[in-house]
Amino acid sequence: MTAKTLEAIKYTRGNLSILNQLVLPHETIFETVLNVQNGHAAIKTMKTRGAPAIAIVAALSLAVEVNARAENKEFETVDQVVKFLFESLEYLKTSRPTAVNLFDAAGKLWALIQSTAKDANDPMTVVNAYLEAAEQMLVDDVKDNKNIGKFGAEFILENAKDKDHISVLTHCNTGSLATAGWGTALGIIRDLHANGKLEHAYCTETRPYNQGSRLTAYELVYEDIPATLICDNMASALLKQNPSVQAIVVGADRVAANGDTANKIGTYQLAITAKYHNIMFIVAAPSTSIDLNTKTGKDIVIEQRPSEELVTVTGVRVQDDEPTCIRTAAADIGVWNPSFDVTPAELISAIVTEQGVVLKKDGEIEFNMTSFLN
Ligand code: MRU
Repeated sequence: MTAKTLEAIKYTRGNLSILNQLVLPHETIFETVLNVQNGHAAIKTMKTRGAPAIAIVAALSLAVEVNARAENKEFETVDQVVKFLFESLEYLKTSRPTAVNLFDAAGKLWALIQSTAKDANDPMTVVNAYLEAAEQMLVDDVKDNKNIGKFGAEFILENAKDKDHISVLTHCNTGSLATAGWGTALGIIRDLHANGKLEHAYCTETRPYNQGSRLTAYELVYEDIPATLICDNMASALLKQNPSVQAIVVGADRVAANGDTANKIGTYQLAITAKYHNIMFIVAAPSTSIDLNTKTGKDIVIEQRPSEELVTVTGVRVQDDEPTCIRTAAADIGVWNPSFDVTPAELISAIVTEQGVVLKKDGEIEFNMTSFLN
């Protein structure tokens, strides 16, 4: 069975547009990204969101700008183009702090720029090498997600206590909208469904920004996957009354070397309830989300978001579909709004990457595959 998937990043050389996720699921609006300023703004304002998508939109926004500048003959020397690429990557890195994929992509692209520039006499050699590498990231991400989906679905099937009734709970959004396509945790759900092994998917609302009710619910409906939306505070009650929910599957914004995982706020409490109810707690992420330079979760910078996101709700009016924003909290109440939390490795059953499933050995996660060391 071939599943239809959404596309949130449209790219051909010289042209980039992104699906504005701030107005989903009510409106489908693609916005043109002409340069790194547009790319940075799309990421910072969360028109583009999700760790892999952030990295790819950053890399491609620079691709369209460097391509346009090269066509206008703005680079006379190799040094000029290298300086422009360096400054642009540094600027893009300031858009959001937690997802490591952005920093990983910027680091890999900078290494390639430097090694190409060393032997180049023509600035176009560097421009073309950059374009090819950035474009390849879009292609690779979809391929990696399909492998994550396959490995994760196999893992769940092997470890399910009741193989005929497998339901899964997920949090935040990890689907086509958060990646170049297919998705990570949602890719696993998609794979189970495509193979006739999924009884039901549950997604949390994911307060305060509601990525679950806006985006995951939208993707599940779009792809005809049998699904139910719950509030974040219903998860434990659901696990208690529905034994078919045998796994909680989430994405990751940054996985530390010891397996501690930063993901959307609310992930940690789901891992605790998974342990209490003795079900699998699976993190699905490409190896670009694994940060071996960060030893443990304590070293992960957690983004704080504006208080408005917690005290207001945006959507469309029921009577006429007009966009609106309402305040729900008492005026002047203090607000704490961390965008992510860190789930300790001890609560994680497995980390599924495109290279396979990383399990715990003697209670500890160990990334010993050579490609994690780059
Ligand atoms: O703040 P967001 O919407 O960018 O956060 C996204 C998440 O936390 C996702 O769960 C995570 O990035 C995994 S993306 C496949």
